[in-house]
Amino acid sequence: MKTRHLLALFAAGILVFALVGCSDDDCPVTEPTAPEAVAFVGSASCSGCHETKYNEWIESGHPYKLTKLDGIAPILDFPAFSMYPNDAVDPPGDYTWDNTTYTIGGYGWKMRWVDENGYVVTSGAAGDLVQYNFETEGWVTYHTDNEPGTKPYNCGQCHTTGWVANDVPEDTEGNQDGLAGMWGTFFAGGIHCEECHGKGSLHVEDPENVHMLVDNSSAMCGECHTRDSENRIASSGGYIKHHEQYDEWLHSPHSAFGAPGCNTCHDPHASVHFDDIALGTGMLASCTDCHDATEYALKAEHSFTPQCIDCHMPQVAKSAVVNPDNPYDADVTSHIIAINTDPVNKTDGMFSADGAFVLLDDDGMARITLDFACYGCHKDDDGNGGSFSPRTLSELSTMAVGIHPNAKSAKKAQVAAR
Ligand code: HEC
Ligand code: HEC
Ligand code: HEC
Ligand code: HEC
Ligand code: HEC
Ligand code: HEC
Ligand code: HEC
Ligand code: HEC
Repeated sequence: MKTRHLLALFAAGILVFALVGCSDDDCPVTEPTAPEAVAFVGSASCSGCHETKYNEWIESGHPYKLTKLDGIAPILDFPAFSMYPNDAVDPPGDYTWDNTTYTIGGYGWKMRWVDENGYVVTSGAAGDLVQYNFETEGWVTYHTDNEPGTKPYNCGQCHTTGWVANDVPEDTEGNQDGLAGMWGTFFAGGIHCEECHGKGSLHVEDPENVHMLVDNSSAMCGECHTRDSENRIASSGGYIKHHEQYDEWLHSPHSAFGAPGCNTCHDPHASVHFDDIALGTGMLASCTDCHDATEYALKAEHSFTPQCIDCHMPQVAKSAVVNPDNPYDADVTSHIIAINTDPVNKTDGMFSADGAFVLLDDDGMARITLDFACYGCHKDDDGNGGSFSPRTLSELSTMAVGIHPNAKSAKKAQVAAR
């Protein structure tokens, strides 16, 4: 990510070269001054000139990833509509707003805390309930294998702006606030403007001549919306793990074609989580902007029309909870998109034998199995699933093959069969 910050530095270098580049002997003798170091200035400095972007961003999840505490509940630090403080939970057990230093999350799914020494609050062998899940309004364990006060906060490269990891954490000078457990420093908690656009001090002085970086690639988002260094889609307990949108997208038909990427569908500044309440429009494009709605109509009459994303982007990944009423519905939208129409469930058709990864076909494509695609609404043989008619996997499979009879590929198949 650091390369992004270099661009502005490069611009500063050109400026200094212009000032000290005089080569004549009779140049005024001045000591060359060091280039003005480009520095972070903070998102508030951008708001005056980019008010709309700022107002959208401040209501999205990015700023709230890591929130510093100062002895009281951080109610005013979050948008009023986000998970916290709508549900204004207090720290777990003996922890208070006084002896914790940061909250982690709280905007979308769950909240964890950082203790007074900078360690992430964990359960330990005692199994203390230390993570709060907003959807179920319940406490769960987090790391029973780490005693409280032993799990360092080293999550900053994805959760903060300007994270510099400390390779020698015993030297607490390289730790934020000198906290023993916080193994690095950062400019601001959360993903601020300058984490994506680079340091802004020179641009705010001279925006016409010093430009910020605009990296529209999906790989930029993928620096954080990933988990596995090989971009495999990691899973556990029968669900995809969370923060893997880039890994999923890489193995979807959209990446195979090269488009649409993250920022074709998303406005990187606006929330999708609270798209209906927050400022701005998180989703810029819908499926039917590109795929003709008539071409992708369904072959049998569903009594109401399911949305494209109900089948193609179900919540197959888990951040905090699985819907207690439906084991096929976790809490993070999948970006795999393609559907496997074979009559197989996730254990046989989607995950590797050890359950650790999503299977890929020879073209590197992942596919969602029909249990995830259809049991969000239909019931399985055991009565689990949504509230609509029970369908076996083989019934679903029969229906799913060629489910869009007007699709060009389906028409081609019909012609070939004749
Ligand atoms: C998560 C990364 C991310 C964050 C955080 C972010 N941006 Fe952006 N920004 C982008 C991307 C990617 C684009 C290009 C795509 C687009 O225009 O939506 C962009 C585009 C822009 C543009 C328009 C550039 C153009 O030529 O159209 C401006 C201005 C801007 N951002 C300002 C801001 C400000 C101000 C903030 C903070 C309040 C901010 N951004 C936060 C990723 C981000
Ligand atoms: C004094 C007003 C001002 C401030 C403060 C300011 N910008 Fe800009 N910004 C502009 C203007 C004007 C442009 C258009 C420049 C152009 O097109 O030549 C711009 C362009 C941009 C762009 C598009 C790429 C580019 O540089 O042309 C991004 C991204 C951006 N600003 C981000 C930021 C961020 C992040 C901050 C805060 C660190 C910020 N701006 C602060 C005025 C400002
Ligand atoms: C590779 C980047 C990355 C790392 C490393 C990472 N996270 Fe995250 N985390 C994310 C992203 C991206 C999200 C949001 C998207 C998602 O969950 O699918 C997220 C979400 C979360 C949330 C939920 C936020 C909310 O609003 O409810 C919590 C809590 C969290 N992470 C804690 C941690 C902790 C603690 C660590 C370190 C032990 C960590 N994460 C390490 C990228 C990362
Ligand atoms: C530096 C790390 C980082 C980068 C880069 C990043 N994200 Fe995120 N993103 C996160 C984290 C962490 C969260 C969870 C925030 C929370 O819940 O508080 C998140 C949450 C989100 C959310 C859900 C929250 C909401 O407001 O709806 C969306 C959508 C999202 N990111 C899209 C993007 C896109 C698109 C890009 C690329 C332009 C991008 N992100 C780049 C770390 C990052
Ligand atoms: C910006 C345009 C765009 C948007 C928005 C878009 N797609 Fe696509 N989609 C494409 C392109 C381009 C391809 C690759 C070419 C093709 O196969 O038609 C594709 C391919 C696909 C495929 C594979 C097609 C095949 O032949 O195997 C599926 C499935 C798909 N998209 C579903 C969706 C769904 C569901 C949504 C909404 C969540 C969506 N798309 C949104 C442009 C888009
Ligand atoms: C009821 C579930 C369901 C809904 C709703 C749904 N699809 Fe599909 N879609 C499927 C299944 C199943 C397949 C695989 C069909 C096959 O392989 O024969 C598919 C295949 C596709 C393909 C690839 C077809 C091809 O050409 O090979 C595209 C593109 C697509 N859907 C787009 C959409 C769009 C756009 C919408 C919304 C307008 C939508 N789908 C709504 C279940 C659904
Ligand atoms: C074809 C369009 C499309 C593309 C491409 C796309 N997304 Fe999404 N994304 C969506 C839709 C639709 C949702 C669900 C929105 C909703 O629930 O209202 C979503 C949701 C999300 C969420 C929130 C997850 C949740 O369940 O709350 C994150 C984070 C996210 N996308 C990140 C990304 C990243 C990163 C990329 C690029 C690697 C990307 N998306 C590419 C359409 C897209
Ligand atoms: C968003 C909810 C939803 C999703 C997702 C969904 N369905 Fe349905 N489906 C319905 C409803 C509602 C009906 C009509 C009432 C009923 O059957 O209970 C229906 C009816 C059906 C029927 C009976 C229609 C007929 O021919 O008489 C079949 C077959 C079917 N769905 C197949 C599928 C398949 C295959 C999938 C997954 C690829 C799927 N459905 C996903 C809601 C959904």
